Amino acid sequence: MAAGTRGVVLRLCALVFLLDVASCKGFVEDLDESFKDSRKDDIWLVDFYAPWCGHCKKLEPIWNEVGVEMKSIGSPVKVGKMDATSYSGIASEFGVRGYPTIKLLKGDLAYNYRGPRTKDDIIEFAHRVSGALVRPLPSQQMFEHVQKRHRVFFVYVGGESPLKEKYIDAASELIVYTYFFSASEDVVPEYVTLKELPAVLVFKDGTHFVYDEYEDGDLSSWINRERFQSYLTVDGFLLYELGDTGKLVAIAVIDEKNTSVEHTRLKSAIQEVARDYRDQFHRDFQFGHMDGNDYINSLLMDDVKVPTVVVLNTSNQQYFLLDRQVTSTEDMVQFIHSVLDGTVAAQGGDSILQRLKRMVFDAKSTVVSIFKSSPFMGCFLFGLPLGVISIMCYGIYIADPEGNYIEEERYEVSQGELEGPEGREAAAAESRGPPEPGSGLSPGPAGRGPKDVLEKKTD
Ligand SMILES: *[C@@H]1O[C@H](CO)[C@@H](O)[C@H](O)[C@H]1NC(C)=O
Ligand SMILES: *[C@@H]1O[C@H](CO)[C@@H](O)[C@H](O)[C@H]1NC(C)=O
Repeated sequence: MAAGTRGVVLRLCALVFLLDVASCKGFVEDLDESFKDSRKDDIWLVDFYAPWCGHCKKLEPIWNEVGVEMKSIGSPVKVGKMDATSYSGIASEFGVRGYPTIKLLKGDLAYNYRGPRTKDDIIEFAHRVSGALVRPLPSQQMFEHVQKRHRVFFVYVGGESPLKEKYIDAASELIVYTYFFSASEDVVPEYVTLKELPAVLVFKDGTHFVYDEYEDGDLSSWINRERFQSYLTVDGFLLYELGDTGKLVAIAVIDEKNTSVEHTRLKSAIQEVARDYRDQFHRDFQFGHMDGNDYINSLLMDDVKVPTVVVLNTSNQQYFLLDRQVTSTEDMVQFIHSVLDGTVAAQGGDSILQRLKRMVFDAKSTVVSIFKSSPFMGCFLFGLPLGVISIMCYGIYIADPEGNYIEEERYEVSQGELEGPEGREAAAAESRGPPEPGSGLSPGPAGRGPKDVLEKKTD
C-alpha cells in the first residue's frame, strides 16, 4: 500500500512540477519560532540554511525531493527547513554553526547528518536514526534479510546484561553511522559459534567477528573501529571519518581507468593483504584504494606518482611512502611491517614547520588555481607584494562556492552553543571557509569523537 501511495504522490508531484516547480516544496515545512515548542511532538528532519549560502541552494531541490519521498512512503519523520539567519536564536540553541546543517531531532536528542548530500543517503539516515536504536531480529529470515541489505551491522546476542546496557549506550551515539540489532542465539546462523553469552558481533566482509572485552577494550571504541569494511574505496569524506578510528590507513593510489599491470597488481596486492592478513593487521590498519592522486597530493603537499602506496597515520598526520614500487603481496606485507617497526621514516606530521608548509602550499595552489581560471587576475595579483597576494587570494578562495574537495560544513562539530552576533558571524565565515585537504586528517580539536555529532538537549 505504501508503494501505491508513493506512486500517486510522485505522479501528483510530477504533474504539479509541470505546472509550477515551486509547489513541490509543499512537502517541506517552513519552520519558525513556534518550532521550539512543537518539535517534541514529532521526529523532525530539519535543514538549517542561510538564504545566501551556495551549498544551501544546491541542497534545496534535493531537500524538496526528500520531503516528497518521506511523505509518500508514509514516514513518521517530518521534513522541515529553517532559515537559521532569521531564527538565529533557535538555530544556535540547536548548535547550528555552519550552513547548511542537517539534523534529525528526536525527543531530547539532536543527531547531525554528516554524509553526502544526496536524497538516498539523507533518507537512509533518517530511517536509521528515527527508528529503534537496537532493532530486534525475531527470526532467521529477518537475519538473512538484514544480512543482504547491510554491508556492516552489529548484533547483540543474549538476554538482559550489563553488556547490553553498554551496547544500547554505544548505539545511541553511533546510530548515526551504522545499524544495531539484537537477536537470540537460535536466530544467528549456525556457522556462528559463540563461546559465551551475551556477545556482541559485527557482520561484515562475508564473515563475522566477536567483541572481546579484554582484547578489544571499550565497546564503543571497538564498534567505532569495526564499523568499516576491511577494504574500502577511499575518498576525502571517508578518510576524514577514518580519522575517528585512530588507525593507520594504507591506501593504494591508482588510476582506475589505467588497465596496465602496475595498477591492477598493486590493487590486488593490497586487497589480498586486507583479506589474508586481517588477524595480524586489522587492529592497526585500515586498507583501501583511492582513484587518482589529486587528493593525496594536496594532503601530503607532494606529487606522488601513481600507482603507489601511502600509509597515513590518522592520529598525528604523518605518512609513509616507499621509494620503490610494491609489486607483490609479500612486498606489501613487508612495507606494512617496516611502518610498524619504524624502519621507514615518517614524513609530514603536524609540527609548526608542517603548518607553515601547509600555508605556503595552500597559497601556492590558490595562485595556481587563480591562474587557471583567470590568467588576467593572476597576472594582476602577481604584480602585488606577497602579503597582499595571500590576503586577496584567501578572500577569493573563500568566496568560491565550488571547487571544494570536501565540504567543510559536513564536519561541523556542534558542541558549543554560539551566543551573540560575533559567534554567528564566525560560524558563517567558517562554513564558507576553504576546505583544506589537510583538515581531512586534522579535524580540529584533539579527542574529537563521534560524540560530537550528538547533543543532549536539556530544554
Ligand atoms: C598507466 O600507468 C603506466 C605506469 O604506471 C603509465 O606508464 C601509463 O602511461 C598509464 N597509461 C595511461 C593510459 O594513463
Ligand atoms: C601514529 O601516531 C601516534 C600518535 O602520535 C603514535 O603513537 C604512533 O606510534 C604512530 N604510528 C606509527 C606507525 O608511526
